[in-house]
Amino acid sequence: MYRKSSLGDQPEWLTSFTSSLDKDEPLFRAVILTALAHFYHLWEKELIPRDSNSVMAWLLKALDEESEILSGNYEDVHEALEEWLLKNAGKNAGWLAYGKSRNDQVATALRLTLRWKIIRLLWEINMLRSSLLETAEKNLDVDIPLFTHLRPAQPSTVAHYLLYIEDECSHHWRMIWDILKEMVDLSPLGSGPIVGSSLPLDRKRLADLLGFAGVEVNTLLATGSRSFAILSLSSVTSLMVSMSRVAEDLIIWSTPQFKLVEIPNDHVSTSSIMPQKRNPVTLEIVRAKSAEIIGSLTSLMAIIKGLPSGYNLDLQEANESMSAVDEASDSIRVLADLFKRVRFIGLDIPSTLAQDLAEKLVKERSITYREAHSMLASALKESEWDIERAAKSLGLELPSFEEVLRSRERGGSNLDILRREISSRKKFLQDDIEKLTEYEREKKEAEENLLRLARESVEE
Ligand code: ARG
Repeated sequence: MYRKSSLGDQPEWLTSFTSSLDKDEPLFRAVILTALAHFYHLWEKELIPRDSNSVMAWLLKALDEESEILSGNYEDVHEALEEWLLKNAGKNAGWLAYGKSRNDQVATALRLTLRWKIIRLLWEINMLRSSLLETAEKNLDVDIPLFTHLRPAQPSTVAHYLLYIEDECSHHWRMIWDILKEMVDLSPLGSGPIVGSSLPLDRKRLADLLGFAGVEVNTLLATGSRSFAILSLSSVTSLMVSMSRVAEDLIIWSTPQFKLVEIPNDHVSTSSIMPQKRNPVTLEIVRAKSAEIIGSLTSLMAIIKGLPSGYNLDLQEANESMSAVDEASDSIRVLADLFKRVRFIGLDIPSTLAQDLAEKLVKERSITYREAHSMLASALKESEWDIERAAKSLGLELPSFEEVLRSRERGGSNLDILRREISSRKKFLQDDIEKLTEYEREKKEAEENLLRLARESVEE
């Protein structure tokens, strides 16, 4: 349609090479809502004829006609929609293009879609946080060793480990929440192709109609930048990099060799030939998904880094990377379910008391730590790495696990402190849940309001 008057027909295979139609489905709803907001605004400001309101009836109908609209040979969903509207609503549908470009429209639809995706992700992270805190509470007195270089390092507790994961989650939650509110939730609508239009559009009103927190003011940035997507995906990728390590821990800890964790049956599968196998398949997929998400961020940044300012069609190929947020949500959901039902098996490894034993030497003999370290190392070597014998040979008593765990300050393995940490984190989580509930409610209300305004104007 767009090229007909000047360029003429194009062979179908070339149109489909540059078309995004087959990938526009995730943006469909947001594209219609954006078109609706623009059209309604033209109409309420009386920039278009009063009787063009019938077009809004068709825009409302379009919300349910996704498969029909997205079939055909078009450059993208925007062209497909315009063609469908012209066919059904007639000539007045031609007003939709007044003061609006595909460039501001797609940027708006992307931000709306990303907003929905991030809201879901933030909910999933909260579910994970809640299941981590619950399981930490249930496992308060279960000891496990923690590892450096994958070798037993120092004794700790399951709760200490789970609060580490909860911290990763809440740090990322805050980061993603800020990016959502400060970067994603700004409206590009009204920016036209790059420098707006001659129409007196009220950009704040357009933003309000779509429930945006504010306006992305600079029209060049609004249409040609995807920094909001890079920042969102960066923080999501960072979250998934750390969750991949968690998956890796559980994969290793659940091996028959380590036996620290029992993964629930729903999360394992067996071998088609070796009946003894319990393969940690959901965790393996979480680990792989995080690699795919790194790939999405990399491809997004690589597409954008060489572009001159302003819109270039390359940007279209970056739209798909947004689905990485859904992949992250699915993975976080898997982890939340797993952590609710996982069983930890306590384990005390005596050699992990070595550092505390050396520290005891320092206190009892008034020697430097270097001397104590070296004395204990020699004693361990002589007693073939049996720490009880080594302690005896130095005339010392091995500290108990309880003593060692309790001797820690905040952030470590001390049970009483961990108990308090769990309850203060529950409060933080509750705050975050309330913030998100309120935010989501506002956004839904704005959408309902837009649909109501459009319905009422059709009836006029
Ligand atoms: N399909 C395009 C995208 O998703 C829409 C914008 C096209 N703009 C243009 N000037 N050709 O980015």
